[in-house]
Amino acid sequence: MQPVTPSAKRYDTATIAFHWLTAILVATQWLGAQTIDWFPKGPLRVDVRSLHITGGVLLAAILLGRVVWRLTGGRRLPPSDRGVLQILAKATHWGLYLLLGVMILVGLFVAWAQGASIFNQFNLPTFDPNNDALPDQAQDIHAIIGWIIVAVAGLHAAAALFHRYVMRDGVLARMLPRGGR
Ligand code: HEM
Ligand code: HEM
Repeated sequence: MQPVTPSAKRYDTATIAFHWLTAILVATQWLGAQTIDWFPKGPLRVDVRSLHITGGVLLAAILLGRVVWRLTGGRRLPPSDRGVLQILAKATHWGLYLLLGVMILVGLFVAWAQGASIFNQFNLPTFDPNNDALPDQAQDIHAIIGWIIVAVAGLHAAAALFHRYVMRDGVLARMLPRGGR
């Protein structure tokens, strides 16, 4: 793991790119998923669901790359808060990593439980073809974790904006390309 770099003003470019790619993909996945049921049952809905599954696999690759980069070459900065706030920030960040990891695993399981068709080309094997309730149950859990992610990421974003506009410090700038200038 990289040593902490107290003199640096912001994260390195790869860390920043990973962060914002993750944020954009999570938002796209969540919003996109709400539209799946708008489409009539059949090939069109299969395509929209397949897009969601593809986005999920992409998110898995990005999350994996991000964690590996954080543990190896990624720049580490000193904590931006002290005391309780520092613990809260750390818990939020680790919580988000954990929630995303679990979300991806549950999402993959939903697709497996459904024996989902991928772009109408082939079907994933079905986990338990005799269990009709399983896909819906797994999807309900997936949706609940989705709401938790939205809530925690929302608080996390609010904290970043609070730092910028109320405390007027450089915490958000650390995660912006060129410090947001
Ligand atoms: C943070 C990332 C993700 C978010 C926010 C998200 C969000 C959602 C939401 C809100 C639903 C609708 C649930 C409902 O209405 O009951 C859903 C459905 C689904 N998700 Fe995800 N998802 C994510 C990642 C994934 C991943 C990684 C996969 C698999 C590779 C996946 C596969 C599915 C499948 C198969 C469905 C069922 C769609 C259907 O049959 O209508 N999701 N997702
Ligand atoms: C789904 C959306 C998001 C997710 C999953 C997410 C996740 C994370 C995670 C896991 C970290 C910790 C990085 C590390 O130390 O390894 C982080 C840091 C950070 N995030 Fe987010 N984030 C999201 C959205 C946002 C938004 C919208 C903002 C700004 C409005 C933001 C601002 C920041 C800042 C400033 C840091 C660095 C904090 C520091 O250096 O003390 N994030 N984010």
